Amino acid sequence: MHAAVVRSFDHAPRYEDFDLPAPNGEDEVVVKVLAAGLHPRVRSGAAGAHYADERVLPMIPGIDAVGELPDGQRVYCVVHDTPFGTMAEQVIADRRRCVALPAGVDPATIAAAMNPAMSSWIALRMRTQIKPGQSVLVIGATGNAGQMALQVAKRLGAGRLVAAGREIDKLAGSAADQIVGLKGDPAEVARALAEAAAEVDIVLDYVWGEPAVQAMMALAKGRKDRSRPLDWIQIGSVAGPDIALPSALLRSTNLRIMGSGQGSVSARAIVAELPQLVAELAAGSLPVVAESVPLAKVEETWSAKGSEGKRMVFVP
Ligand SMILES: NC(=O)c1ccc[n+]([C@@H]2O[C@H](COP(=O)([O-])OP(=O)(O)OC[C@H]3O[C@@H](n4cnc5c(N)ncnc54)[C@H](OP(=O)(O)O)[C@@H]3O)[C@@H](O)[C@H]2O)c1
Repeated sequence: MHAAVVRSFDHAPRYEDFDLPAPNGEDEVVVKVLAAGLHPRVRSGAAGAHYADERVLPMIPGIDAVGELPDGQRVYCVVHDTPFGTMAEQVIADRRRCVALPAGVDPATIAAAMNPAMSSWIALRMRTQIKPGQSVLVIGATGNAGQMALQVAKRLGAGRLVAAGREIDKLAGSAADQIVGLKGDPAEVARALAEAAAEVDIVLDYVWGEPAVQAMMALAKGRKDRSRPLDWIQIGSVAGPDIALPSALLRSTNLRIMGSGQGSVSARAIVAELPQLVAELAAGSLPVVAESVPLAKVEETWSAKGSEGKRMVFVP
């Protein structure tokens, strides 16, 4: 079969012939891939930089796909624990990690949307359990996952929504009640964050690094009752992998920091959430836009930024 093959973590995947290993055991099945999303997690895996990967070469990137089972049933599958990923004509998937898709659903749309949508869906349902009317701050709201998080939170019953990000023009028309820009004078950003979001119940943090610490300090300072729980869910780290967290902040605020991702939630628990999320996406209630690219162009397209607001999807 043809696949995007990584032979060095320093080079983009190349479109090559590759022998697919045989399925192992009765739960494994060969899925014909129709569309596979180029998510940040896929890029970091192909660069040998993702915390959950074993860095085996050669590898085929891709952690999820829309495809067809041998009986023709269309499915969405997750396959994030194998070096033979979804950016190929075929992938071996565990049947238990495949969710049937309703007829007529566009494969590219589902392949583009599931990963960014899942980040907030799992965080709000599995790491904390959002209650109707709770207010949510999304930090890093301008990316695909952040924009989706605003819609997912609303869909899951959130009350007031605050969105914080750098290029806030991208948030025009979003579900946010208030928008805070993260660029500019740090003191001014902190003041604006405190004013808009000091009383939120939940933070979905896609940035981490220095902006996350600044935001924690700003919210803590502005909060009227610091003993009221503030669930801080760490999801992405586009601004840096580490933070220096003042101990006093944890003692003086009921800040409950947790992460949401592969490992902090079991694969089984994530898969159990997928049908409901698929149903939401299939119903069009969480719109996202896919940018389809032929898999044969993977090497030349890999590092391209893609069109603004769209998620690139490779189509074999
Ligand atoms: N844990 C999970 O389950 C899970 C699932 C999906 C995604 N993620 C993670 O979530 C993060 C975002 O994913 P995505 O799909 O939304 O990626 P994306 O569509 O590529 O968006 C990334 C966004 O990050 C913003 N950004 C970059 N550097 C920043 C900084 N220093 N400060 C503030 N914003 C910054 C950019 O916004 P501007 O245009 O405003 O600069 C960009 O739009 C990634 O780290 C990804 O790995 C985690």
